[in-house]
Amino acid sequence: MRLGVFAVCVVAATSGIALAHSGVKNAAVMQRMIGMSDISENMKIIGDMAKRQTPFDGEAARAAAVAIAGYAAQTPELFAAFEMDPKSEAKPDIWDNFDDFRAKSMHMQNVAMDLSTSMRQPEDLVPALAALGETCRACHKAYRD
Ligand code: HEC
Repeated sequence: MRLGVFAVCVVAATSGIALAHSGVKNAAVMQRMIGMSDISENMKIIGDMAKRQTPFDGEAARAAAVAIAGYAAQTPELFAAFEMDPKSEAKPDIWDNFDDFRAKSMHMQNVAMDLSTSMRQPEDLVPALAALGETCRACHKAYRD
């Protein structure tokens, strides 16, 4: 059930966001940007609930965390090849420190997996966002311009 929902979300999110990156010529760069945007979309689901812009829905929050964990698992593969594009914000350091890049992806995955079972009530959302946001920042600070 949960996997089915995940697959549908991936397709829906991916097709919508592809349009937002129409200036990117390198297909591999496009794919990794789409992956990042999909992570962002799922963060927004949790963020909107945390800000009470949408009603609390534990199931949807946990599903968003599962989706983020799924994208996190794909992240090293999406960045495995040294690919660049004028529109890319990726720093070449990624490919000099790929073990660290992979570890930072794995950290995001682990935090998201924990949250996919532990987020149960509205009070859980703000700390969840902080914990996840920390994993984004750690990698962006090192590897994104
Ligand atoms: C392991 C490293 C890593 C982690 C963890 C990570 N990112 Fe990224 N992210 C990147 C890199 C590198 C880029 C730049 C990619 C490019 O432009 O080629 C990027 C780009 C982005 C972009 C811009 C995509 C676009 O359209 O150009 C968004 C949005 C984003 N990340 C959101 C997030 C969020 C939200 C999280 C945490 C939940 C996160 N990222 C975690 C490495 C990471």
